[in-house]
Amino acid sequence: MYIVFLVVLQMFQVMCNNYSFINLPEDHLPYYFSNFPNIAETCMNDIDCPYKEHVNNHKCWGYEYGCKWKKQYSIPACPGDHKGWVKTKFAQQMTFYTQADFGFIKQQLQEMQVLCEPLFPNDSSLECSEHLRFCRGRNIMLNFTKLINREEPIRYKMDVLNNGDIGDKQTDHLSPLQSWGPEMRYFTRLKHRPIVQGDCDIIIEKPTFIMKIDATVNMYHHFCDFLNLYASLHVNASQYDAFSTDVHIMIWETYTYHSAFHDTWEAFTDHPIWDLKTFRGKTVCFKNVVFPLLPRMIFGLYYNTPIIYGCQGSGLFEAFSKHILHRLKIPIHKREDQRIHITFLSRKTMYRRVLNEDKLLEAIKENDNYLLEISRNSDVFIGIHGAGLTHLLFLPEWAAVFELYNCEDASCYFDLARLKGVKYITWEDNQKLTTFEDESYDGGAHAKFANYSFDVEEFIRLVEKAAKHVKNHKKFQEYVGSSINHAKHDEL
Ligand SMILES: *[C@@H]1O[C@H](CO)[C@@H](O)[C@H](O)[C@H]1NC(C)=O
Ligand SMILES: *[C@@H]1O[C@H](CO)[C@@H](O)[C@H](O)[C@H]1NC(C)=O
Ligand SMILES: *[C@@H]1O[C@H](CO)[C@@H](O)[C@H](O)[C@H]1NC(C)=O
Ligand SMILES: *[C@@H]1O[C@H](CO)[C@@H](O)[C@H](O)[C@H]1NC(C)=O
Ligand SMILES: *[C@@H]1O[C@H](CO)[C@@H](O)[C@H](O)[C@H]1NC(C)=O
Repeated sequence: MYIVFLVVLQMFQVMCNNYSFINLPEDHLPYYFSNFPNIAETCMNDIDCPYKEHVNNHKCWGYEYGCKWKKQYSIPACPGDHKGWVKTKFAQQMTFYTQADFGFIKQQLQEMQVLCEPLFPNDSSLECSEHLRFCRGRNIMLNFTKLINREEPIRYKMDVLNNGDIGDKQTDHLSPLQSWGPEMRYFTRLKHRPIVQGDCDIIIEKPTFIMKIDATVNMYHHFCDFLNLYASLHVNASQYDAFSTDVHIMIWETYTYHSAFHDTWEAFTDHPIWDLKTFRGKTVCFKNVVFPLLPRMIFGLYYNTPIIYGCQGSGLFEAFSKHILHRLKIPIHKREDQRIHITFLSRKTMYRRVLNEDKLLEAIKENDNYLLEISRNSDVFIGIHGAGLTHLLFLPEWAAVFELYNCEDASCYFDLARLKGVKYITWEDNQKLTTFEDESYDGGAHAKFANYSFDVEEFIRLVEKAAKHVKNHKKFQEYVGSSINHAKHDEL
């Protein structure tokens, strides 16, 4: 009798286990399970757990306490000269790791300080990293009553809240997208429990990320928001639901959010995006809130940040890329042959038109070893300087990006390509391009406000250089090799 009962009970538990909150790319699972041994154990004891092979691999992202250099997600490659920045190769790698890889997350964690300590159960609490770049809090009340009287829309305004007593020492990075200083300086410690005592018009139970975002029309800047949100998930990853999409996101503006890239939010939340209008005139209490890393932090990522010379391949960027592609279910196709897939990004704007685009594309098509493609599946990604080049974040590891011409902004996409760890190529001989300017623009930075045409032969030479990098890349050979084998196998 007892035995039968026990078996039934166990079956019942198994059916209740639902791992859908994990939803990570397959190669991130070992890191996840190493961080949350309880979930790992549940999985091991559960005959139906689909992730058994990923448990007990003892991996770590790199920011965890005691994580060994060799066990971490990835180790930066520094084949180039650091130009006098540091003394040793290892110091060069470490510098890159701290500036631009999971070491950056580790630094935020090390800096974390309690600014407001809870004194009784369910009291408010607030902790932040230095300069208030990242904060998280519990039972925080935000009073948006005043917003009802404001006529002008709010974006990058620093006085949404009022009153406050967080010290000046922390609130020194005061431009809106550099830190949470502008908001936090208005925070006040309450002497009571607003949630319990009924001060809140609205209580938000689910974890909420409050975001200040950069230009949403520009892929380069908007993906800087997404990268920092992803990085913040790691900074806050102390609980098993760290990567859950059952969270809210509120944008700290009264403008309604619009962006061609809005689908990207689905990688982070299942719920509609809120903004300040959502709560205008209300007092709102958040049981659990995160103020994530911001896109224009001083020495932040990735806008305008000096990165040590000679290094490439940030694990954080690679993980971000995989995470987004996985969550948005963007497929990578099997290859049927050895051809190099090329994407050419076409601009239909007033400036930086490639005037002889047709000729360049014709020249690519003439080579049977090349095939024109969409970005995720491309091996060589070509475009003139512009935010669309940010697609390079989602290229495979073996890819090369060819910035046709950098328009005298040499480091922007060169650095982004380094961070992602893809090969970067750009126009080498300015004698072989033609600039077309007109009178419509008379400001500085002329190179960005002109059209261009490119020498076809030189173009093909550089495409070949990119293609050669791809063909010789071990990962490409493995990938193409295995998908061709699969295809043959399927035919049999
Ligand atoms: C698991 O949970 C998700 C979301 O919470 C739900 O959509 C899904 O149907 C559940 N799956 C099972 C097998 O219960
Ligand atoms: C604290 O909050 C939890 C969860 O929100 C609730 O269940 C509990 O009753 C609260 N405790 C007190 C003392 O208010
Ligand atoms: C919110 O702010 C308004 C106006 O500043 C004030 O009258 C109100 O008492 C505040 N609400 C709470 C719960 O503190
Ligand atoms: C942030 O971390 C805290 C503490 O571990 C956790 O309770 C909370 O759910 C996390 N917040 C979000 C928005 O994920
Ligand atoms: C660039 O080309 C476009 C399309 O032909 C044209 O509208 C624009 O005026 C040109 N700009 C310059 C600076 O020549």
